[in-house]
Amino acid sequence: MAFVERVFSGVQPTGNLHLGNYLGAIVNFVKMQETHNCIYCVVDMHAITMPTDVWGGPEGLARATREVTAAFIAAGIDPKKHIVFNQSQVSGHAELTWIFNCVARVGWLNRMTQFKEKAGKDRENASVGLYDYPVLMAADILLYRATHVPVGEDQKQHLELARDIAQKFNNDFGDSIRKTGFGDGLFFPLPEPMITGPATRVMSLRDGTKKMSKSDASDYSRINLTDDADTIAQKVRKAKTDPEPLPSEEKGLEARPEADNLVGIYAALSNRSKADVLREFGGGQFSGFKNALVELCVAKLAPIAGEMKRLTADPAYVDSVLVDGADRARAIAAETMQATRDIVGFIGKR
Ligand code: TYM
Repeated sequence: MAFVERVFSGVQPTGNLHLGNYLGAIVNFVKMQETHNCIYCVVDMHAITMPTDVWGGPEGLARATREVTAAFIAAGIDPKKHIVFNQSQVSGHAELTWIFNCVARVGWLNRMTQFKEKAGKDRENASVGLYDYPVLMAADILLYRATHVPVGEDQKQHLELARDIAQKFNNDFGDSIRKTGFGDGLFFPLPEPMITGPATRVMSLRDGTKKMSKSDASDYSRINLTDDADTIAQKVRKAKTDPEPLPSEEKGLEARPEADNLVGIYAALSNRSKADVLREFGGGQFSGFKNALVELCVAKLAPIAGEMKRLTADPAYVDSVLVDGADRARAIAAETMQATRDIVGFIGKR
């Protein structure tokens, strides 16, 4: 069966959105609107898998949910043509997760590196939700039978798990899928990760071997989407570099993680390749390149920060976008859930 192409992706409303989220994911969300029907979700149910102080409790969660929504819109996502909503408004995410919990294997989840990182040393004390997180993520995608998922590099393993779950469901219930007429044995598509562009893994500005992340203790490690021009300039100027001038070719970036990161950021923000950026700046000192990078970051990010500020000042508007998006998402989800219940053998119509 040929699946209708559909894009789904999600961003957690925890802490600050940063340049990694923007370049690794949101920029591609914006691009994919031209070619696909897209669903972009603020995954509030994922946020609560961490201890409350990480996501800021109920007020922090609501604030961050509106902020991520504002970032989507400010970056250029059109919530009228496409769908923008927060996950907890559509109950199918939780419902499908349960069915997938019975398809996924404990051994598969035990291999997830992000759980190990996030749970840290005290694994016994991690929430069951954190352990089950990748299954919820598979349900997010497959509830809409999405075929393409734009994400940063760090989500690759989770996407592979989503494909494994889709495949095992199709195998386990193959006869039922055929009998109920929901396809020739393939009900769920195997979603394709879209990990594209020169900044699929943006690194910390303080340490080029660590991923730029919301949870880094140093705010100087990341550029937040809400940072003003002065803050952006300070962070870029303080970014760690090495003493060598910039190389003229991409292979000269090998074993120079900080230089590689800054060149990747420049390339992604200017929509050019790293090789092209190095043709312009190769041989020069970092100070000149950093000045150009500050200018570029401010030119690209300051308007987004300004628009986010304007939007978050009007929470009623932001909430109305989420309610409208959730209504449309629910209609698609309802079809998948009814079919899934029929396939599994759960009696009744809803
Ligand atoms: P989250 O909220 O951690 O990150 C949102 C998106 O930003 C990307 N990203 C990065 N890309 C490049 N460099 C970085 N340093 C960087 N940091 C983050 C992430 O790869 C992601 O694309 N589990 C997901 C959210 C999610 C989801 C989904 C995604 C829930 N359900 C279904 C896709 C499909 C997460 O925690 O992303």
